[in-house]
This record gives sequence, structure tokens and C-alpha cells, in this order.
Amino acid sequence: FNSRILDGVRLTITAGPTREAIDPVRYISNHSSGKMGYALAAAAADAGAIVTLISGPTNLNCPERVSRVDVISAQDMLDASTATLGKCELFIACAAVADYRPAKAADQKIKKDNDSMHIDLVRNPDIVSTVANHSERPVTVGFAAETQDLLRYARGKLERKNLDLIIANDVSNSAIGFNANDNAVTAIWKDGQCDIPQMGKNQLAAQLITLIAQKFFAETR
Ligand code: PMT
Repeated sequence: FNSRILDGVRLTITAGPTREAIDPVRYISNHSSGKMGYALAAAAADAGAIVTLISGPTNLNCPERVSRVDVISAQDMLDASTATLGKCELFIACAAVADYRPAKAADQKIKKDNDSMHIDLVRNPDIVSTVANHSERPVTVGFAAETQDLLRYARGKLERKNLDLIIANDVSNSAIGFNANDNAVTAIWKDGQCDIPQMGKNQLAAQLITLIAQKFFAETR
């Protein structure tokens, strides 16, 4: 068993949430802590990969031997991700990207003049499918966070987003998924799947990196 299974492989990982500005003091976001993505970055660096971690706002320290690019919004995360294309062979999208953003962020703090208000939202670009459909496409791994019909929705995303592998995450269970210290996932690819039972995110990340490395070498060598 070679513990440096990704020796010299250039890898980009997205992690954490994005924030979509409503006005200078408010935003739309989600409960991603970044723990899963940072654990993957640390495990990949331990496996010898050259890791760029593109991170939304989190409270976590950058793992050793990982270079971090800090971003706020989905658009920032897309720009930082596409900037690594041609320079990365493997891409793992663990970030919980906001699917929508306010159509226009107000220049000044919005005043509470009315009893109700609405915010027009527009779709954000899909980062992992932009990467997976690029001419300099790396081997591309996505996550699927679902609260129902986990495996069916995850397989749909694998196909629709043109991914090599998707990691299905049942986020209806608060013991795993968003902000939890543990996770349990099913890795799904075109002609197979594999369950990884509940364990700490660091240990699970090490198992995922082993699986991802096997897929990576099956695709590229
Ligand atoms: O950060 P933690 O607190 O540790 O929690 C970990 C996690 C639950 C966030 C993580 O394990 C996880 O499931 N990440 C994916 C969250 C998500 O937004 O999933 P999704 O099913 O909405 O998106 C599917 C895939 O498309 C993901 O790879 C996502 O990064 C990507 N995506 C989604 C929307 C978008 N605009 N661009 C994207 O690239």
C-alpha cells in the first residue's frame, strides 16, 4: 500500500459555503462549515497531492502544505476555480454553493420601511459543471447534498453535471453532513457505487481520497 497515492498530482478542492450579498450588511448563505472540504484537502496533501483549496468563508485554519484561495460569492468561486484549469488534473467540488443570488445587491443598507419585502433571485453559475465541461477538463468529482431520494438525485447530478464520481451525502440527518463532525456517504460512478459508513470527517476523507485516487488513475493512466 502506497500512502503517497496522489504524489505530485495537482488537485483543486472547493469547500465551505458561499455568501451572496443582499446589501452591504446582509447575505444569503447555508450551514456548510468547510470541515469536509478541509479534511479532504488535508488527506490529499498527506497523499502527496499539490492542493489548492478554494474556500468560502469558514472559521477553519488552512491545513499544512495546502495553498488556500479565499472567496466569498459563487461568482468569485467560479473565477478562482476556472483560474486553476489547465493547471490541475483533479477537481473535487465539496463547497455548498448558493444556487441563487440577489439579482442586484443594494448599494446601501436596506431600511425596514415596509411590513414585507421581496428579493429577486437569479441563478448562479454551476461551478462543477463548468469545470467538467471545459476543454481542459480535469477528472471531476462532485458532492450531492440531499434531504430525500439521495441516490436517485445523486445519480442524476452525476450524469447532468458530467462528473466522473459523485459523493452522495444525506443532509437530513444532523449527525452527518452540514457542520457535523461525522459524515457517512455513498460514492457513485457510472457503473458502480460504494458505501462509506458513519465516521469522523478526517477518517472518511482519507478513505475518499483513496477511492478518488483509484478512479483518477483508472481515467488517466
Ligand atoms: O462543510 P461541512 O459543514 O463539512 O458540510 C459538508 C457538506 C454537507 C457541505 C458536503 O459534504 C457536501 O455535501 N457538499 C455539497 C453541497 C452542495 O451544495 O451540494 P449540491 O447537491 O447542492 O450540489 C451538487 C454539486 O454541485 C456539489 O459538488 C456542489 O459543489 C456543486 N455546485 C452546486 C451549485 C453551483 N452553483 N455550483 C456548483 O459547483
